[in-house]
Amino acid sequence: MRDFILVYINGERRELKGDDVFLSLSDFLRERAGLSGTKVVCSEGDCGACTVLRASPQQSEFKFKSINSCITFMYLLDGCHLLTVEGLLENDRPSEIQYQMVENNGSQCGFCTPGFVMALAGLFEEKKKIGEQQIKNALTGNLCRCTGYAPIIDAGLSVRPKEVASLVKRYLTNECLADLLEIRKTPVAVELRGVTFFSPVSLKDAVDWKVKNKKAKIMGAGTDLGVLVNKNKWNPTQILGLNQIEELYTISDSQKAVKVGARVTLTDLENSLEEKIPELARLLKIFASPQIKNNATLVGNIANASPIGDTLPYLLAIGAQLEIQGPTEIRIIDINNFYTGYKKFDLAENEIITFIHLPKPAEKEIHKIYKVSKRKDLDICCINASFVMGLGSQQKIETIRVAFGGIAATPIRLENLESFLHGKTFDSATIDAAGVEILKGLSPLSDVRGTANYRKLLAKNLLRKFFAEVSSEREL
Ligand SMILES: Cc1cc2nc3c(=O)[nH]c(=O)nc-3n(C[C@H](O)[C@H](O)[C@H](O)COP(=O)(O)OP(=O)(O)OC[C@H]3O[C@@H](n4cnc5c(N)ncnc54)[C@H](O)[C@@H]3O)c2cc1C
Ligand code: FES
Ligand code: FES
Repeated sequence: MRDFILVYINGERRELKGDDVFLSLSDFLRERAGLSGTKVVCSEGDCGACTVLRASPQQSEFKFKSINSCITFMYLLDGCHLLTVEGLLENDRPSEIQYQMVENNGSQCGFCTPGFVMALAGLFEEKKKIGEQQIKNALTGNLCRCTGYAPIIDAGLSVRPKEVASLVKRYLTNECLADLLEIRKTPVAVELRGVTFFSPVSLKDAVDWKVKNKKAKIMGAGTDLGVLVNKNKWNPTQILGLNQIEELYTISDSQKAVKVGARVTLTDLENSLEEKIPELARLLKIFASPQIKNNATLVGNIANASPIGDTLPYLLAIGAQLEIQGPTEIRIIDINNFYTGYKKFDLAENEIITFIHLPKPAEKEIHKIYKVSKRKDLDICCINASFVMGLGSQQKIETIRVAFGGIAATPIRLENLESFLHGKTFDSATIDAAGVEILKGLSPLSDVRGTANYRKLLAKNLLRKFFAEVSSEREL
């Protein structure tokens, strides 16, 4: 058992104990490591000023990827290599990306600048051929209130790829990799003033510990929980980390389904689903920001149980199955039977969600996901919806599953609407009649994102949008 965590920061090996283990990464960098280039503005993952890069040997590739340091805690970074803006300097001279930010006037007050530079550094580590769209996508998680985005995008476009030294080659040496892999074989237990963090290396040990510490909170990447800590809405006392359990990082594939481990990041998931479940991969493109997706998990989205969690309507519509490990058995539950009330679900205190089984689309089945938000990227939606339909000859609706988020205390299937549509012809008369049907029994909340009436109107219009899209794609 270890009573310390191990991280590398800009190539320097550091073993952390006590208080340091429980700090956010941004606090550790600024207050303990003297690396104040990393800035903090919002403390909730929304502005990107705190962006750093992380390489974890457990992810699909041992490469540097951007994350938000303000909502990531040191105990979740055990066994990782972290890179800050200071680590980009080459022989005390600015790197190519820093140089181009200066040349293109990509900075005024400068507070956001290290975050932009790190997000761009992550992009250039990942891809070598980069155009305007890739730059815009990589910067969806970064806000600047003074410069205006054009000079920042120009800076990205002016970067000469040949001048960008590979950070992997520079920092991720074989010795570092061997050290990180070796250390991850030993579990971690750190206790400090009544707060305990435990990170086992096997599922059995995780469940055994959860049996003894029923109130312990399971941490995914902490992109939901980290915001709660920073906003003083949650004060953890017992924390179970799953980041050393190898099997939870796997994505495996059978003829009918994709099985996704609880520690798989949304970025790895998006990349692996492009061909297998394209509609979910398409949704993930507009989910949060690269910094969030390089860290967050699908299980976290499911167990956060938000009525507007973006993946949930689709998981309900395809009938995703959750694999749950308890003290004596593994049980599989259809996600349609999982949610029991607002933020309530069928998971005992001694259980852990280990895998999600995502059924692949059946041949000729039509899958559509919609997210309605004020802006396309990095926004919380007002409502979201998924439609999964099988059409027979003469446009007969043979199978139909419809799920919505944002219209009830949990994401829900619209079973009345499904029964109404089943067996009918998929034409505008049916959809008009279904528009009346969809409103029956719907009583959404009014909040800052939309009134109940607006949500009802959106629900009706999304059904029409589904019809219009499918009709035009299939030339019906
Ligand atoms: C800036 C920002 C943007 C965001 N954008 C979006 C968005 O566009 N769409 C969206 O839907 N969400 C969004 N989110 C919310 C969040 O990123 C997602 O819900 C994410 O999937 C959570 O994953 P996580 O691993 O970080 O979960 P965590 O924060 O670690 O955990 C969330 C919950 O899941 C539980 N949990 C985690 N793992 C397990 C397990 N194995 N077994 C049982 N319980 C478990 C935790 O105990 C906790 O209750 C955003 C968040 C931020 C900060
Ligand atoms: S400080 Fe704004 S995202 Fe971290
Ligand atoms: S330069 Fe001031 S916030 Fe971007």
